[in-house]
Amino acid sequence: MKNKYVVDRLRPFGETIFATMTQRAVEADAINLGQGFPDEDGPTQMLDIASQQILGGNNQYSAGRGDIALRTAVARERHKRFKVDYNPETEVLITVGATEAISAAVLGLVEPGSEVIVLEPFYDAYAAAIALAGAKRVAVPLKEEENTWILDIDALHTAVTKKTAMIIVNSPHNPTGSVFSKRSLEALAGIARAYDLLVLSDEVYEHLTFDKIEHTAVASLPGMWDRTITVSSAAKTFNVTGWKTGWALAPAPILDAIIRAKQFMSYVGATPFQPAVAHALANEKPWIKQMRKGLQLKRDILSATLADAGLKVHASYGTYFVVADIGERDGVEFCLDLIHRAGVAAIPVQAFSDNPEQWSSKVRFAFCKKETTLLEATQRLNAVGEL
Ligand SMILES: Cc1ncc(COP(=O)(O)O)c(C=O)c1O
Repeated sequence: MKNKYVVDRLRPFGETIFATMTQRAVEADAINLGQGFPDEDGPTQMLDIASQQILGGNNQYSAGRGDIALRTAVARERHKRFKVDYNPETEVLITVGATEAISAAVLGLVEPGSEVIVLEPFYDAYAAAIALAGAKRVAVPLKEEENTWILDIDALHTAVTKKTAMIIVNSPHNPTGSVFSKRSLEALAGIARAYDLLVLSDEVYEHLTFDKIEHTAVASLPGMWDRTITVSSAAKTFNVTGWKTGWALAPAPILDAIIRAKQFMSYVGATPFQPAVAHALANEKPWIKQMRKGLQLKRDILSATLADAGLKVHASYGTYFVVADIGERDGVEFCLDLIHRAGVAAIPVQAFSDNPEQWSSKVRFAFCKKETTLLEATQRLNAVGEL
């Protein structure tokens, strides 16, 4: 039923498919491989520091841009890995998860009526942020190639108009598990430079790449530091999706525009988590390495199970997700049915799209679960036989 209180620009954003599937999964006591959150904790020392911070009295507002220790740790870590430099005083902002960084960036940098290009399938928060800003979303589909997805540079080029203000790119990519090559990101960068566009690079899965594939930081590409807003967070790197501690990195004038919006959205994020994440960024590389190794194994286990059940399974080179192809059937129907047939929940990829028919045969499964949970899920899927 239509709710008269909802403003027009948020009308298209009803209950998400994630909420529906999670609700159905709970009702049916299904294992939820739909939502992408881990069910294991992050590094122990990081958790200890957060507890000590709370008990030790670090419980009031942080500085407006966030704890300087965390801003410094983020900048140092970026420099170490990608040789890109950000001044922690003026070019790093701590946010309430990557989600707030994305919303604040779009609200602070994109005028109403401007266009923002998103690569489809896209994470749903982009669409909502663009709508809140009164801007227009222009979806450019990824291209399926060699069992994964790549950027369609020609289509991207064609989509640019005089009104285009920003391109949002996300690699490693949710929901497909693809990781865009340096060459293709360089081609995207070429378009951004040629048309003087901003690029919002959502790199929340930056540490979660498999098979020795390296993450490319868009801001490290030639001529891109000046026009890139890099967004990331502790959520996926340290198994703390509930801490909602993220960040945005950008040249000072761009970051100032983002802060104009962010300061009235939340003012600041939760203080006691910030020194804990700062510690983890500086000291928990070995933990990340182990986690990535474990995730790769889980990817292999789930991919093999889905293939054994007769599905075409796409390659997953990063993130928490693997996509399977279900042929002629519809993804929403398939996922609803799977909850009852197998006791396992997944997410139809069409939920991430403006062109559902193009993605209706693709279903996303999350493998970021405890080994016991994942094995139980694979047993349930095996028991069904053909999916
Ligand atoms: C692509 C992408 N960006 C951003 C986020 C949100 O990150 P955070 O929890 O730090 O707000 C997610 C979470 O699922 C995601 O998949």
